[in-house]
Amino acid sequence: MKPHIPALLNEVIEGLNLKSNQNVIDATLGGGGHSEVILEKIAPNGRIIGFDLDSSAIEIAKKRLEKFGNRVIYINDNYQNLKKYESQFDFGINAILLDLGLSLYQLQDKSRGFSFLDESGLDMKYNKDQTSPDAKYVINSYKEEDLIKIFNDFGEEKLAKQITREIINTRKVKEIKTGLELSEIITRIYRRFYKKHSRTNPATKVFQALRIYVNREFENIENFLPDAIKVLEPGGRFVVISYHSLEDRIIKNYFRTETRDCICPLELPECRCNHKASIKIINKSIIIPTKEEIDVNPASESAKMRIVEKI
Ligand SMILES: C[S@@+](CC[C@H](N)C(=O)[O-])C[C@H]1O[C@@H](n2cnc3c(N)ncnc32)[C@H](O)[C@@H]1O
Repeated sequence: MKPHIPALLNEVIEGLNLKSNQNVIDATLGGGGHSEVILEKIAPNGRIIGFDLDSSAIEIAKKRLEKFGNRVIYINDNYQNLKKYESQFDFGINAILLDLGLSLYQLQDKSRGFSFLDESGLDMKYNKDQTSPDAKYVINSYKEEDLIKIFNDFGEEKLAKQITREIINTRKVKEIKTGLELSEIITRIYRRFYKKHSRTNPATKVFQALRIYVNREFENIENFLPDAIKVLEPGGRFVVISYHSLEDRIIKNYFRTETRDCICPLELPECRCNHKASIKIINKSIIIPTKEEIDVNPASESAKMRIVEKI
C-alpha cells in the first residue's frame, strides 16, 4: 500500500502556530502524518487528542505514533462528538486541525468501495461497524428522486437524472455490488453525453456525493465547527483543510459569521442578537498546494486551507 502523504504539511504546521508543550486536537487522525510533525513541535510534553471514525486508521496511526507514548490519546469516534470527551481533558486545547475527506489507505482498501476500481465492495462508510445504510444499499434501494437529490446536492452532478435512470435500469436486472460496477454505469452515460475525454474520472462526483451522504459529512462539519471554537483557548488556532467546494462553503460561511459582532438582518435598526465575534481570520485568501506539492502528491490537488484564531 502506498502511504498517505499529509496535504499542505508545512502550511498546516505554520498555520497552527505551535509552541512547546501545547495540546492539540487532530480531529481526523488518519495515518497520523500531520500529527507526527505536530508532536515534534509540541515536545517534550504537549499532547495530541486524535479522533478517527475508522478503527483501521487508528491502528495505522498507533504504529506511526508509537514513539510518542502516552502523549497521544486515541479516540475511535466521530469528531462531532467532541463535547462528549471534553470533560476528560484536564488541560487547555491550544490548536485544532480538521483535515477532511478520506485517506489514501481507505481509497486503496479494495473492500471499502471508495474507489472506482473496487471489485469487492461498495460500502463507503468510514466506520465499518456503523449500522446506517451503506453505499450499496443506497444505490440498490433508494427511490429515483432521492438518488437524483443526493447526486445533485452533494456532488453537483450535471447528469444526475441520466445516471440515476441507468442505475435503476441496471438494478432491475441485477444488484450493483461493487465500486467498479457503479463507475462503469456512470462512464457509459458520460460517453453518451460527452465525446471529449476529461482527465477526471467521470464517476468522481457521484462517488463523492455518495460518500458525503453515507457518512453525513456536512452535518458532522456543521456540528463540529462551533464546538471546536468553544473548546479552543484564546489565541488558539483552528486549521481546516477541505477538498470539495460545498464543504469549503460551509466552513467559509461559518467563519465569516463568527468574525462579526452582530448577525442581525440588515433591515433591523438596532442589534438584537447580542452575538459577539469569537474568531479572527488569519489567511485572507485561501491556501492551496503548490504545483511542486501536487506533482509529488496528486491527492492534494483540490485541497483548500483556512486558518482562524480564537479571540
Ligand atoms: C484526509 S484523512 C486525514 C489524514 C491525516 N491528516 C494524515 O496526515 O494522515 C481524513 C480521515 O478522517 C477520518 N474521518 C472522516 N470523517 C470523520 C469523522 N466525522 N470523525 C472522525 N474521523 C473522520 C477518515 O476516516 C480519515 O481517516
